[in-house]
Amino acid sequence: MNIFLEEIVEKLKLVKDPQSNIDIVTLKMIRNLKVTDRNIFFDIYLPAQDYPHKDALYGSIETCIQQHFPEYQVHAHFVVKSPFAEAPNSLLPQISNFIAVCSGKGGVGKSTVSVNLAIALQRLGFKTGLLDADLYGPSLPTMLGIQNQRPQVRDVDGKKQLVPITVNGIPVISLGNIIEAEQAVVLRGPRLAAIIKQFFQETYWPILDYLIIDLPPGTGDVQLTLVQTIPLTGVVMVTTPQEVAVIDAIKAANMFSMDQIKVPILGVVENMSWFEPEDAPGKKYYIFGQHGGARLAHFTHSTVLGQIPIVETLRERSDSGSVFASKVDELYPEIYAQIAKSMDQKVKLRNSILSPTQPVVPAV
Ligand SMILES: Nc1ncnc2c1ncn2[C@@H]1O[C@H](COP(=O)(O)OP(=O)(O)OP(=O)(O)O)[C@@H](O)[C@H]1O
Ligand SMILES: [Mg+2]
Repeated sequence: MNIFLEEIVEKLKLVKDPQSNIDIVTLKMIRNLKVTDRNIFFDIYLPAQDYPHKDALYGSIETCIQQHFPEYQVHAHFVVKSPFAEAPNSLLPQISNFIAVCSGKGGVGKSTVSVNLAIALQRLGFKTGLLDADLYGPSLPTMLGIQNQRPQVRDVDGKKQLVPITVNGIPVISLGNIIEAEQAVVLRGPRLAAIIKQFFQETYWPILDYLIIDLPPGTGDVQLTLVQTIPLTGVVMVTTPQEVAVIDAIKAANMFSMDQIKVPILGVVENMSWFEPEDAPGKKYYIFGQHGGARLAHFTHSTVLGQIPIVETLRERSDSGSVFASKVDELYPEIYAQIAKSMDQKVKLRNSILSPTQPVVPAV
């Protein structure tokens, strides 16, 4: 989601639906907005076939775009459909937004970003959950200090459901809390896809504004199962500034942008951006180079949500399971608060102009 889309949406908010006198963005009448070269494409959702102000509305929209973006061509189509009846999230209607945290390369900080982003969102007042989709190397239990806890299993209408472990108000599911022999029966087999599905379909999730999903690196079975199972709201890409990390991240992001998948990239978190020694404040060492986050944002038509320096206490707290010990006035919680705010804005923008993502139908 890039800044230009935001600018277009801001201007379209000036256009009112003549019937209700409410702006057309608030009414979610503008859907599937996208920009290519010098063209702006979108659908205009109409509440009914006999909507009487079709021509007037089209005229106002065209004038608005021509006035503010004269070098762009408008391609708008009417669709008779209520956006409020769009593809309801029937699997987990209690979860408003599913956010995947993704990278190309391993070890760039996805799990650290997932955990700290979840904490920052919670501190902003959002109900937030965490799902560890890294079945190969689940690290959330260690980071959250819950490696010895086991999720409970409850009976709902005769069906067994996992109950996420709640840590400081954040419900968490991770294979790292389950891989004990006596729990194997709950997993019903070792297959990755089955486990991922179980984490969504057979887990008792509470009402959440955000479910943050920590992915393994790259584009494998987990990513594929994810897009087939839930309507992913968007993806947060994590990279270090390093060229190899960026190249791999572009490949991973491309999977989500494929026509059959179409999950928007909300933005980029550049991690390990620099190191500033405590005994030499102000002196920055760009250990992994510079501008990688911006390059990734450019290639994925998104923006940099934030840059996180290498901070020793961040690593120490992740290793010792004391991530919640961070104080809001420390450097990195402040950076994460900014990232969480920016991400929330992108999600709101995404939800106001794009239809909910459709889970991909598996090829038979
Ligand atoms: N900004 C940072 N400052 C210091 N240490 C960091 C920072 N970000 C991450 N780390 C540390 O780097 C290591 C790798 O981070 P993390 O496990 O979050 O990466 P990942 O992308 O999830 O890895 P994997 O691909 O294996 O899942 C961890 O030990 C973590 O504590
Ligand atoms: Mg990880």
